[in-house]
Amino acid sequence: MTKKSSPGPAALANEVDRLAASGLEALGYTQAELERCAGLTLEIKRLKAEREAVIPAHVYQRAELIHGVADFTGDSYKLAKDCVGTTAKRIVFCGVRFMAETAKILNPDKEVYLPALEAGCSLADAITGADVRKLKAKHPGLPVVSYINTTADVKAESDVIVTSANAPKILRKLYEKHSALIFLPDEWMGRNLAAELGKKLGSELIIWKGKCIVHENFDPGSVKLYRKMYPGVKILAHTECSPALVKAVDFTGGTGDMMKFVEGTNAPTYMLVTECGLGDLARTRYPEKTFVPMCRLCPYMKATDLARVKDVLERLPAAHRIELDRGLMDRARRSIERMFELAEDTTKN
Ligand code: 13P
Ligand code: SF4
Repeated sequence: MTKKSSPGPAALANEVDRLAASGLEALGYTQAELERCAGLTLEIKRLKAEREAVIPAHVYQRAELIHGVADFTGDSYKLAKDCVGTTAKRIVFCGVRFMAETAKILNPDKEVYLPALEAGCSLADAITGADVRKLKAKHPGLPVVSYINTTADVKAESDVIVTSANAPKILRKLYEKHSALIFLPDEWMGRNLAAELGKKLGSELIIWKGKCIVHENFDPGSVKLYRKMYPGVKILAHTECSPALVKAVDFTGGTGDMMKFVEGTNAPTYMLVTECGLGDLARTRYPEKTFVPMCRLCPYMKATDLARVKDVLERLPAAHRIELDRGLMDRARRSIERMFELAEDTTKN
């Protein structure tokens, strides 16, 4: 590693200006916070070049990571695709473990690091590979469709992976050939998919009981109240929200779809019913639009910060490196690649 030389005052001042203009100032970062962030982002950028690393960041990540150091930002699908295309030697994943595992499965010869070891996910924790094997024994021959929010073990037991961006499309395609499917682990997403596709739960769509600790906390009863408070507001909910909430809102989809909806409509106010990182990103991308302040933090997503990213790049600690069995990765990769094929298949269904 080359010897660290501290950035001069001019470089620091430029970085503070860049961060402020990127949207952090509008989000309320103080001068002192911007200065603290600038010292870290400059150092991370230096280390990133030295380590030949790339930094993907999910849209729920802290704004200083997204605007300060990320090479690409997006929903789970986009991040998986962007990781396939990278020529970097190392990936430092600003997201949660299942995302870093997906990056590793798609890049078995690269080093993939997760800066915060506690960055799990309640959905990924809801089911194990052994549970999937039992489900398959109970419903022989049914294809297993797993949400990307699952461990590598579960992906290896699955036939196809989906994300919130492509689940309805992929399920529709699978139903052309199969009368019943297993979908796991998100119960509410499963219920929402069954309603959207007109499938019977328990026979045509077998679901699991996993929940996202962020999206399970939104109260459908408050939608009416918000409509009164903000006349003309467009209310958007993530597909992981409850069926009752999904029924009450104007649009449902993944984070990428929600951003596209905001971009493509001209409403006075928007309310994004999801983790608050998306609202922060929307405020920086669409400063001319108004977003109702609301917040539900994902403790897993917010566990990563600039100091931890810097530490991982500096030390490349083995404990933070994602290590998975080769055979398991090969099996899991097949189900992810099947998702890419089906999601990008443009033949009509
Ligand atoms: P998407 O960004 O793919 O919609 O996923 C949301 C999520 O919960 C990730 O943990
Ligand atoms: Fe998991 Fe929910 Fe957090 Fe996403 S927001 S990482 S689904 S717990």
